Amino acid sequence: MAGTGRCLPAAVMTNHDFAAIGIDTSHEWIVERSGIHSRHVAKNGETTTHMASEAARHAMQRAGVTAGELDAIIISTATPDHLLPATAVEVQANLGAARAAAFDISAACCGWIYGLTIAEGLIVAGSAETVLVVGSEKMSAIVDWTDRATCVLFGDGAGGAIVQRSKHHRGILSAFTRSDGRLAELLHRPEGGASTPMSESVLARRSHFVKMNGREVFRHAVRSMSEAADRALDGAKLTGRDIDLLIPHQANIRIIEATAKHANIPLDKVFINVDRYGNTSSASIPIALDEAIECGRVSEGSTVLFVAFGAGLTWASMVVRF
Ligand code: ACO
Repeated sequence: MAGTGRCLPAAVMTNHDFAAIGIDTSHEWIVERSGIHSRHVAKNGETTTHMASEAARHAMQRAGVTAGELDAIIISTATPDHLLPATAVEVQANLGAARAAAFDISAACCGWIYGLTIAEGLIVAGSAETVLVVGSEKMSAIVDWTDRATCVLFGDGAGGAIVQRSKHHRGILSAFTRSDGRLAELLHRPEGGASTPMSESVLARRSHFVKMNGREVFRHAVRSMSEAADRALDGAKLTGRDIDLLIPHQANIRIIEATAKHANIPLDKVFINVDRYGNTSSASIPIALDEAIECGRVSEGSTVLFVAFGAGLTWASMVVRF
């Protein structure tokens, strides 16, 4: 991974701000159940494409890579600005990446790890030398702001990295990706897609917004994050003791703590920013990685474990040596 970047919208919404929009909740309830104190909310032109482009520019600058050197742009998003074409081509145009293939992937909160595995595949196959992988999400556009069980949990933002062939025995040591579509209805947007196109009745049912069975998602999340951590560690022939930093998907502090405990990684080796950003879906791990690099918690030689779960359900993990 040659360089990382992130973009967070300017506006911050605290737990106390929900009262002003008529949501019956409290700071104490949200913190106790999720660990979230505040989240960033996109406004005025802070689109999924805009945030992705900004995160990409920072990553390219840090990597010393120009737009013309990008062979592929992979954008992971559950909140594309348009259903057609892909957000990735809009980012490609913004960056002026004339040689790049550009496409989106949809794997919810695991999308960035899925994207890294695709980038690795392109590089190993010799199809690409330099790949941009960004997770960008405007979750505020798809949550139901009248549903207190979901709207307090999510936030907006983007994060990404430049992936290049490693020259010094560093890079991706192992990767693991899984899914179980039988559990799709635990976390989904039931209508408003091609099978039930947007209509007045869909709007009236509010069934184009995210619906979630929080308790069941929680149960599966703890199990799948633990399995994912084990599989990535096994794949790299490492144990939790060899990991310098665990960067888990930032959905809920209780899920993060359970994953760390299972993987035998002490909490001081876990990067946590869910308190400030909420769940930014596929942007959460690259945002956290960029912050971890910036504050010196990841540096040359660090061995980092990424673990994620999300709608699908999907789960994924990766060990990377920097
Ligand atoms: N404020 C106050 N009360 C609330 C709120 C709220 N914001 N939301 C729900 N409640 C109430 C419920 O109505 C319920 O009340 P009742 O008992 O009178 O019916 C009560 O709180 C308990 O609700 P539960 O859902 O049982 O609460 P739980 O302890 O399970 O916590 C939570 C809920 C935080 C959603 C938890 O289940 C969770 O974190 N689940 C995982 C969610 C997750 O991580 N989703 C992201 C997946 S990743 C992706 O792909 C996007």
